Amino acid sequence: MKIARFSRIGFILAAAGSAVGLGNIWKFPYITGEYGGGAFVFVYLLTVLFIGFSIMIAEMLIGYIGRKDTVSSFESIAPTHKHLWKYGGFQGLAGLFIMIFYSVVIGWIFHYIITSLSTLPASIKEAESTFNTMLHTDIWTQLFYHSVAFVWITYVLTKGIKGGIEKMNLVLMPALMVILVGMFIYALSLDAFPKAVHFMFAPDWSKINSEAFVVAVGHAFFTLSLGMGAIMTYAASLEKNSNIVKAAFWVVFLDTTIAIVAGLMLFTFLYQYGAGPAKGPGLVFISLPAAFYEMGIIGNAFAVLFFIALAFAGLTSSVSLVEPMVQYFIDRFSWSRLKASILMGLFFYLIGIIALLSNIDGFKEALTWGDKNFFDWVDYFTAAIMLPIGGLIMALFVGFVIDKRKVESILKPQLGFAFEAWYFSLRYITPVAMFIVMLNLLGVF
Ligand code: TRP
Repeated sequence: MKIARFSRIGFILAAAGSAVGLGNIWKFPYITGEYGGGAFVFVYLLTVLFIGFSIMIAEMLIGYIGRKDTVSSFESIAPTHKHLWKYGGFQGLAGLFIMIFYSVVIGWIFHYIITSLSTLPASIKEAESTFNTMLHTDIWTQLFYHSVAFVWITYVLTKGIKGGIEKMNLVLMPALMVILVGMFIYALSLDAFPKAVHFMFAPDWSKINSEAFVVAVGHAFFTLSLGMGAIMTYAASLEKNSNIVKAAFWVVFLDTTIAIVAGLMLFTFLYQYGAGPAKGPGLVFISLPAAFYEMGIIGNAFAVLFFIALAFAGLTSSVSLVEPMVQYFIDRFSWSRLKASILMGLFFYLIGIIALLSNIDGFKEALTWGDKNFFDWVDYFTAAIMLPIGGLIMALFVGFVIDKRKVESILKPQLGFAFEAWYFSLRYITPVAMFIVMLNLLGVF
């Protein structure tokens, strides 16, 4: 059987599609707001450059050499202790877990596309109550759109790397970029644009504390899709003799640019029409619709386009979150792609319903443990524990376990004199940074 492989542009768009997600357009702007703007953005950019980019190359390398699902790749590459290293591949589970809440959020976005066609909330207060009513009381709307997300994502996965994942990314990624750039150009013409630039780039160092630092590092991982084998699984379908470093560069570049463009655009609209740099996770669901309302009818058009772009970003990331486990069952258990896709889809869909219910009044109490409900626990467990562990394992694996000559033979021609710097970062800088992040997220300091 001929194995389907990505085309060069297909791989870059698919990996960028994985990276550009709710993290860029929904989360990045609001944490930037929360942690004070410029100084935070600066730390985030440094982390992306020095840690994110190195791990991106490392993760691609494992997939590229291994050519199989994550578990088999670790197992076949490890020179010794294969039976232990193969567990590194079970990081793929993190993707399925992330999907438990990610799919519910995509559902909200679908719902907002439809409602923005006709009505926008006339004030922040109204926007808040609309969002909270949906979140805490409206089971059926959420369930309906969560189901739509499940069907869409599962369908694409059944079509495979070439006819499903690559095809969707080739269409949705350019569409997403056109929408964002179009809205960005409009934002450029508004008086508030310089204010947004100032907010995002003028560093106020008094705002940076250890927490902001840790959040920036953690977010760099999440936004680049690192640490759980999504990028690794895609790289297993790269053509031989592909330039990994170039591909990694493009993915990091696109992801970062799109986050900055989305941030500048959002803050311009919020300064121009809203209540300043609004904060918190409600930013795009609460403050932004209220700002669009002030624009009149064009605001509806913008809102619809914005939520479509957000949905596209979420869907292309979703397939990359599920694909590692789909690939695992295909490679190791000889399941058909159809069976693997549907069963993995059902996994996140059904448990996703529990996550959805854990926000609903009346169910919430039974689904809350300690200070978090089920939805928040899944988010916390994956981001705080699974991704940093995954990143750490990959850095150590490439930095210390794979024979350096092998790594060199592939990457030296691509990295040139930067090879040693990259290797050093992978061996020492990254593991230390990941360890600090993990301790902080676990509440040790
Ligand atoms: N990067 C995506 C975002 O920014 C989310 C995502 C997709 C992800 N695949 C991943 C996060 C793998 C961690 C690991 O929303």
